[in-house]
Amino acid sequence: MTDKINHVGIAVKNLEASIPFYRDVLGMVFEGTEEVAEQKVRVAFLAVGESRIELLEPTAEDSPVARFLEKNGEGVHHLAYQVEDIEATLEKLKSAGVRLIDEKPRRGAHHSLIAFLHPKATGGVLTEICQAVK
Ligand code: CO
Repeated sequence: MTDKINHVGIAVKNLEASIPFYRDVLGMVFEGTEEVAEQKVRVAFLAVGESRIELLEPTAEDSPVARFLEKNGEGVHHLAYQVEDIEATLEKLKSAGVRLIDEKPRRGAHHSLIAFLHPKATGGVLTEICQAVK
């Protein structure tokens, strides 16, 4: 069902301040930034082998990531597992009684469809599933 860890989402206050550590110190390949208006975030992707680090910077005070930063400060925000078929995976999760934040897939960054599972259903780990869209 899950193919691999697609990315690890990390909440940061400022992308420009955070990118150099990952790119220049850890030597990850910077793939660019993108705004996801619907989620009120700007994201930066850095490649780590087959996976990525997704840095998330809030673009508004009522962004979920802004609320996360207020509560927890900067740090790991979510884990994203890549799945082949997000609709089928959501159906399977629903029938297993897993609480979901997103009942239907929505557009994520990097040409993907994404859906979040509720952290109460995943032992406190905010979990995203994503499917690449061609
Ligand atoms: Co993500």
